[in-house]
Amino acid sequence: MGAVILGTGSCLPQKIVSNNDLEKLVDTSDEWIVSRTGISTRRISGKGEATYQLAAGAAEKAMEMAGVDADSIDLIIVATMSSHMLMPSCACFVQKELGARNAFAYDVNAACSGFLFALDSGDKYLRVDKGKKILVIGTETLSSRTNWEDRNTCILFGDGAGAVVLEYQDNPRGVVASNLFSDGTLWNLLYMHSAPSCNPDLQQPDNPGAHILMEGREVFKYAVKAMEGAIQDLLIRENIDLDAVDLMIPHQANIRILKKLVSRLGIKKEKVFINVQKYGNTSAASIPLALDEANREGRLQRGDLLLVCSFGGGFTWGASLLRW
Ligand code: COA
Repeated sequence: MGAVILGTGSCLPQKIVSNNDLEKLVDTSDEWIVSRTGISTRRISGKGEATYQLAAGAAEKAMEMAGVDADSIDLIIVATMSSHMLMPSCACFVQKELGARNAFAYDVNAACSGFLFALDSGDKYLRVDKGKKILVIGTETLSSRTNWEDRNTCILFGDGAGAVVLEYQDNPRGVVASNLFSDGTLWNLLYMHSAPSCNPDLQQPDNPGAHILMEGREVFKYAVKAMEGAIQDLLIRENIDLDAVDLMIPHQANIRILKKLVSRLGIKKEKVFINVQKYGNTSAASIPLALDEANREGRLQRGDLLLVCSFGGGFTWGASLLRW
């Protein structure tokens, strides 16, 4: 009926950075970070762990699980906002790393919602061109886009990648439906500049550099409401009761956002997969990373109904239902 996930994979940098490590960089404390965000550690990339390299590592594991080789991949969609280059795309570097010579490749930028948007593109593509195999990857090295002197943001983010291999199957498995949104009028609550313009007429005097800027409290409020709305609408539209959901994998932004969302929805907390304490907010990588972890832990059985939701800069947000 739609895009079925044949395999999942993830890849994390070696280096683990604790809250105590961050106490040496900014005026903060383990107690403050844990109580406000739920985050205890995050991974930070070192040499050989660029955005595309993490992505390729995750893709290799997903392909191995799927029993698919690089030659049979037709399309690579990479969701990221922290590639080491603007051009070529991160996806082209991933194609090179994998040796996926038959694939075409492009990036999607929907900030932290990137994976959900890319998954939807892959699903829609497969409904038209049914014989293809698609890699959808979320990958970030937000450590390269973080102001390490800003305690409001540097404690939140981490690096990592997650990937899935998609194939169309004519059965009840796969992506059931998605409900995606953007609101560009709210861009200035969560954003990141590019490198300064070479054209003096297009230079922005207030460009402090390519790192994340955020109005934390506003983001918090919108995130909870937006994800809740997207989920409720989707369930109503698909005539599915929340009780029918076997596992929910939300974007791992912050434990307080997740707790609020869970209580407003009324979903049992045992059904919600959370790993933000280990990896922080890995943006576009957070859902596929968590999905791979849940899958390898045996949290998903054939036929289960999976709910995923996300929220990010743009604002962008949404929810999807998948039959495993
Ligand atoms: N350590 C210690 N104190 C900190 C701090 C840190 N790392 N970061 C901020 N503070 C301080 C602030 O300076 C402020 O001090 P002041 O009262 O003296 O001015 C105080 O803590 C409260 O700041 P505030 O921003 O109101 O805190 P908060 O309770 O809203 O928590 C966030 C801040 C960022 C954790 C919270 O707003 C949040 O989770 N927002 C959503 C962020 C997010 O998930 N973004 C990505 C979405 S995809």
